Amino acid sequence: MELRDISTVDFTDQKVLVRVDFNMEQENVADSEEHFRLNIVKKTIDLIASASGVKIALLTHLGRPEGREDKYSVAKLVPLIKNALGRKVVFVSDSFGASVEASLGHLANDEILLLENVRFYPGEEANDDAFAQSLAAPFTLYVNEAFSVCHRAHASVEAITRHLPSYAGLRLLKEIAELDRVRFSPVHPAIAIIGGAKIETKLPLISALEKNYDAILVGGKVANEALDKKVTFSDKVLLPKDFDSPLRLDIGPQTVAYYTQIINTAKTIIWNGPMGKFEEKPYDIGTDAILHALLESSAYVVIGGGESLAVLEKAGVIDKVSFVSSGGGAMLEYLSGKELPGLMVLQA
Ligand code: 3PG
Repeated sequence: MELRDISTVDFTDQKVLVRVDFNMEQENVADSEEHFRLNIVKKTIDLIASASGVKIALLTHLGRPEGREDKYSVAKLVPLIKNALGRKVVFVSDSFGASVEASLGHLANDEILLLENVRFYPGEEANDDAFAQSLAAPFTLYVNEAFSVCHRAHASVEAITRHLPSYAGLRLLKEIAELDRVRFSPVHPAIAIIGGAKIETKLPLISALEKNYDAILVGGKVANEALDKKVTFSDKVLLPKDFDSPLRLDIGPQTVAYYTQIINTAKTIIWNGPMGKFEEKPYDIGTDAILHALLESSAYVVIGGGESLAVLEKAGVIDKVSFVSSGGGAMLEYLSGKELPGLMVLQA
């Protein structure tokens, strides 16, 4: 997929609104290990900030607030953003309006603005055009650096592009290039490992991958649900041979051995979702064994989804795989072949 590339833009004297996705669980706000989504936008911010006279504001959502709820204010992210981006951050307690315009006007060269949680306003999730226009008003350019929310037709992702010249950030371009590589031209044998919960979000991906992948190894709650609901798959889709116990909280040793054997032969691997209740010992054994096999493998490995990211962070190996997608739902939908609203509006 070809997107409008930020590298072609002259940012001199522009006022740039950058849509980022700093969404994270409340309990992770204070945990510096969890700031993957902050770190990945640095290159784009550095690129934009290198232009003279440019002013930058960041806009994100956090959680799923019902209107303005203090606990979802992004004010608490200021020190984390400062740390991740190495810049002074000025917080504005609105996402649009006079206070945003005034703060933008006063912004010093080494500062960036952080606007309040855009989901405090109903217009965001309604993809309301008038709201998008208000968001756009203080700015001259829009950059989407938030792959992980591109599956949402929300005002700061979709409608806003009707009001400003709009481009894809460096990280968003990389996400698409990496996902296109495993989606359209995987080197064979190509396998996918699908676990975690929410079978309804995983089935479209499994059926998309059945077309051009050699094997799909299923674990976690998805496997349990598929067994319970007697979902039928093609021969390419493998369900666990055994479990840790009748409660099926983890895959069992025979499955680990079988899946590891397949992983060892693969040249391309996609992984989304743990093999069991990995956050609780001893149900992390299966997931850890699969992670170990992935790290040993010489395959091109692409990993995505919040829980898989948590597994990598827990093991301290986030830098050891070929590519870690920032997308959860967005990655699943993109690899399933769905059209993501946030991407459709950025097509070159
Ligand atoms: C995510 O964390 O996957 C994105 O930020 C999207 O969040 P949402 O599921 O609340 O829209």
